[in-house]
Parts: sequence; structure tokens; C-alpha cells
Amino acid sequence: MSAFGPYITKIRSAASSAELDALELEIFSRKHGVLTVAMKDMGSLPPSEKISRGQELNRWKHDLTEALAWRRKELSSLVMGELASGDKLDVTLELPPQESGHLHPIPEFIRQVEEVFGRMGFEIAEGPEVESEQFNFNDLNIPESHPARDAQDTFWLAGYESENDPSRRLLLRTHTSNVQIRYMKTRKPPMRIICPGRVYRKDSDATHSPMFHQFEGLMVGAGVSLANMKAVMMSAIRELIAPDIDFRFRTGFFPFVEPGLEMDLRWRGDENESREGRWMEVAGCGMTHPNVLRNCGIDPDKWQGFAFGFGVERMIMIKLQIPDLRSLYRGDLRFLRQF
Ligand code: DAH
Repeated sequence: MSAFGPYITKIRSAASSAELDALELEIFSRKHGVLTVAMKDMGSLPPSEKISRGQELNRWKHDLTEALAWRRKELSSLVMGELASGDKLDVTLELPPQESGHLHPIPEFIRQVEEVFGRMGFEIAEGPEVESEQFNFNDLNIPESHPARDAQDTFWLAGYESENDPSRRLLLRTHTSNVQIRYMKTRKPPMRIICPGRVYRKDSDATHSPMFHQFEGLMVGAGVSLANMKAVMMSAIRELIAPDIDFRFRTGFFPFVEPGLEMDLRWRGDENESREGRWMEVAGCGMTHPNVLRNCGIDPDKWQGFAFGFGVERMIMIKLQIPDLRSLYRGDLRFLRQF
């Protein structure tokens, strides 16, 4: 009896595994499957026919099960084949351009500062941006009446004006030199530190901003000299800006150093663009004043030191030929993407 023959044909031409599932159900389902029903119907046959019918149905069961398994295998290898040919990896295909960000020029430069001085054995030190008058001025040999204070138009914190003790009058630090004091008061020489950070003054124009960045350097040891200072500063700026950068030292006055010097770098861009002229002051420096060492409990007869304070934005202006430092703070991506 070939009542199940057409099922074999249907199975062989099934186009998907979902179609095969449906056929399997139609044939084998527990209640209404065509083969299941035929098996049940066998019970009503006379015993003489039962045996041959049983054998016949078992053969169909075997053939149908095998046909299903076979077609399933065939279909899955067809799908794999299609995937293999349709989903090939094309390594020559150009990818869409990927935008990767980069640090803003200021933190990027500070990272380089830490790296360059780190290689010269300088440790990174930090101090607070809200500082006491004592550490920002007094201990740096700048007493209350000193004219050097006028050069640093200070942001005082309201509510502390009536304090008599300069350790309790607070301000936004005007320079990173406060870190020198904090470090020397708590350590013993020899020492070498570099202190990058934000500082605040009430000025604003193309070369001044009310908030800007400095990095302070301090080295204290036995027999430390001005020649050591110049060597450290020169090798650092050559690495940080350019090996052929032009610079000069001039004498300058800072109450916390003696002698004191200023370092200028030569503007590298279009001369008409530089509002400061061809030379731009980027650092103050000198030999640590004996009073400052004493204020921090260090014996000036035993130890000598040098210190310098660089303006980060001005160094970046020269390095990247940016005529107006305010462009560094505008957050204009057309500007920032150039670096
Ligand atoms: N603190 C000074 C300023 O902000 C810069 C400076 C001058 C720092 C001389 C120093 C130094 O360490 O020795 O104007």
C-alpha cells in the first residue's frame, strides 16, 4: 500500500526546516498523525491481516523517519553553504572613517611636562587651589606690604577678611609656588619636585586669563647651583617645545629667589600676530631665597635650591603658534581638531 508514498515526495522537496516540522507533525503527531491513526486502525483488522499490515506500517515509519532526517541534514548544509558564500569577509573593503578623540592641548602638554621632568628624577607634587595667604605669599618672602603683591591681582575668598592670622585668610592661589612651601615644610632635602596646576588672577587679554596653568619646579640639595637650574630648564624646553627653540634669560625680581631671572622664548609664528612682541616671557626662576628655606625649616648654610614657575598656556601658544590664548578655552572643535 502506497498511501504514504506522497509524503516521501513532500519531505524530499520541503524547502525549509519549518516545512519539515509541519510534515513531521502531520505524519507522526500523537493524536491525528496519519501514521499514528493508521497504526490505531490496525486493531480493528482480522488477525490474518494484522501481521502484514503491521510490518508494512513499520517499514513506512522507518522510511519516513529516515527521509525526514536526511532532508533536515540536506537543508542545513544548504543554509551553511549560502552563509559561506554570502557572508564572506572582504579584507580589502575600506572601513568608514573612525573618529578618535584626543586630549585638549593643555592637559596634553601637562602630561608631557610630567613625563619630561619625571625622566630627570622630578617627583609630581600637588597643592590646593584655595590657599592661605601664609603659603601663597608670606612664607614666600612676600609680606603684606610688599609691592610684589600688587602684580598678582588676587581673588580673595569672602568671609575671611577680618581674620588676623594670614594662615586663616584664604584666596585662590595666584601661582603654583605655594606647593614649594607645602612640600619643603613636610620633607627633608634633597628633593626634586614638579607641580602643575591651575592658578587665578584678575587679568584677561590675549596673553592673560583669570584662570591659567603653571608648573612649578623645585630642587633642593647640597651644592645645587644656578648652572644646574639653567641646564634643567633648557633641556626641558627643548624637549617640550622644539630642539631649536630660541630662548633667553634676563634678570628679574621675585622675592622668593635671589638672584632671580626670567626666561623668554621667541615667538615662532607670524611676527604681526604676536601681541607680546618677538619674545614672550614664559617663566620666572632663580635660587631659592635663604628666608624661604628658613621659613620651611631648612638650613640655608647646608642646602641650596632653585625654583622656576612656567606659564603653561604661553608655552603652548609658542609651541602651536596660537596668537590668542583665549582660543584654548572657547571649546571650538574647529580650533581644537587642528592639534
Ligand atoms: N610664581 C611666579 C609667578 O607666578 C613665577 C616664579 C618666579 C616661580 C620665580 C618661581 C620662581 O619658582 O623662582 O609670577
